[in-house]
Amino acid sequence: MGELKVLIDEESLQNKVEEIANQIMKDYEGEDLIFVCILKGSTFFTVDLARRMTNNVQLEFMKVSSYGENTTSSGKITLELDMKQNIAGKNVIVIEDIIDTGHTLSYILDHLKERKPNTLKLCALLDKTERREVEIDIDYVGFEIPNKFVVGYGLDYNESYRVLPYVGYLE
Ligand code: IMP
Ligand code: MG
Repeated sequence: MGELKVLIDEESLQNKVEEIANQIMKDYEGEDLIFVCILKGSTFFTVDLARRMTNNVQLEFMKVSSYGENTTSSGKITLELDMKQNIAGKNVIVIEDIIDTGHTLSYILDHLKERKPNTLKLCALLDKTERREVEIDIDYVGFEIPNKFVVGYGLDYNESYRVLPYVGYLE
């Protein structure tokens, strides 16, 4: 593994998180919300975002896994952990670390739509638009990034690097 270069520093990440939180608070003024954190990559982003919110926000967690190569998702996805809460009639925002091909998110959104939430939106910190295979509408996006494999701020390479406070890439 080569050297780690900074792509998005800590201050830029935190400024963006604040910006997104403000936007969500504007869109959902006075409303209760459920943030669905997609494990494990979205944990840091979800927590930082949630603690800036003045709405009543509940946290739920889901985990999916995709089989195939190490660094890309194959499109074959299984639900490993589901939430127990009934989201019918609730305002749900799915919080994802990165959208790459789009397979993971389209699977999750299809699943959640069936449960008839009042509103269902998607918030993603990073968007690798170049690699998209499935069309996805992202309501709140942090940064569009080039086609590089990134780590840090929740994102891993073989489970390492998640705890870095910045987003970096491997060369
Ligand atoms: P998608 O299904 O191709 O959109 O892949 C989404 C998932 O692949 C993300 O939730 C990440 O877990 C993983 N992933 C995609 N690109 C990266 C990356 O650059 N670094 C770390 N994980 C990634
Ligand atoms: Mg992920």
